Amino acid sequence: MKHRIAVIPGDGIGPEVIEEGIKVLKAIAQAVDELEFEFKYFPWGCEYYLKERKMMPNDGLEKLKGFEAIYLGAIGDPRIPDHISLRDLLLKIRFGFDQYVNLRPVKLLEGVFCPLKDKGPKDIDFVVVRENSEGFYTGVGGRYQKGSSEHLRYAGISKVFADSEELVTQEGIFSQIGVERVIRYSFELARKRKKHLTCCTKSNALNYCMVYWDEVFKKVSEEYPDVETDFAFVDAICMWFVKNPEFFDVIVAPNLFGDIITDLGAMIQGGMGLAPGANINPKGISMFEPIHGSAPKYAGKNVANPIASIWTAQMMLGELGEIEGAKRVMAAIEDVLRQGKIRTRDRGGSSKTTEVGDVIAEKIRNLGC
Ligand code: IPM
Ligand code: MN
Repeated sequence: MKHRIAVIPGDGIGPEVIEEGIKVLKAIAQAVDELEFEFKYFPWGCEYYLKERKMMPNDGLEKLKGFEAIYLGAIGDPRIPDHISLRDLLLKIRFGFDQYVNLRPVKLLEGVFCPLKDKGPKDIDFVVVRENSEGFYTGVGGRYQKGSSEHLRYAGISKVFADSEELVTQEGIFSQIGVERVIRYSFELARKRKKHLTCCTKSNALNYCMVYWDEVFKKVSEEYPDVETDFAFVDAICMWFVKNPEFFDVIVAPNLFGDIITDLGAMIQGGMGLAPGANINPKGISMFEPIHGSAPKYAGKNVANPIASIWTAQMMLGELGEIEGAKRVMAAIEDVLRQGKIRTRDRGGSSKTTEVGDVIAEKIRNLGC
């Protein structure tokens, strides 16, 4: 089957790591019968912004509509405020295509150094399902200047605040549909794994939205009696990731908490260079992007670790239904890490970005991975 993929290499190290992912996808297309790709590149991002004053064309989402999936490197450049570059491209695509699941596997592979004492690959193997379409990411809120005290008082906000210089709000949005669908997705995923799902919120402090989230979780759990469940507050889960990562199988978390805990997750699986991710709309167009950023200081140096991106491409194969291809790419990644000869700088070696892609592609072509 031929898959049409939109490629947005983006900024910083994005283009370099994405090229290695494409290299591996081309190799797997040669190795697996009837697997084909057509890639179309979109040069959007911060360089584009500097010329056009926008991150992508006004009809950017329209242009992406004809594709089965989007493969994205990283977005961000010190010359442009992050909240502009990220909102106008990355978040615009996540929201525009309603990619409500952000899937982030946390899996320590053999041969990878783990910063946790006495923990190994058998201890670190879980998936974080991050809600990806609402929460504190919707951009609802505002900044109120001095002088607006009258209407703030109407809104029930105390005089002390109203008379101060500024007041800022950022709303967390939690809809019934939004919360339920991501929880349901997580239960289905847990069913395919070790049948253990942890609900990660902060309902001891956030008395509306997080209490609501926990209630929906409990209600949906009644439909999945075969899945064991528990609750962990987001602060406590940070402690457990370090102390007892083996406890976890699938974790479902609201957008902001999911973002935060997966950076910690990335570190316990060997670092940002090894952490893949996918923004999924199960019935629509999904976007595959490693969770690391654009790392501008390493851009153009051929030193970034492309494994996160290659693994991300592997996730894309799985979501496209190319199970054989996905298995083989994973086997090749695992092989290279286990052998440990090719190590980029983040892993204490001096291998180049391009060498990692070459060796993984070669394994797929020649060694029947
Ligand atoms: C991520 C990133 C983004 C997020 C930023 C860059 C907007 O941190 O993908 O984890 O918070 O979602
Ligand atoms: Mn993040």
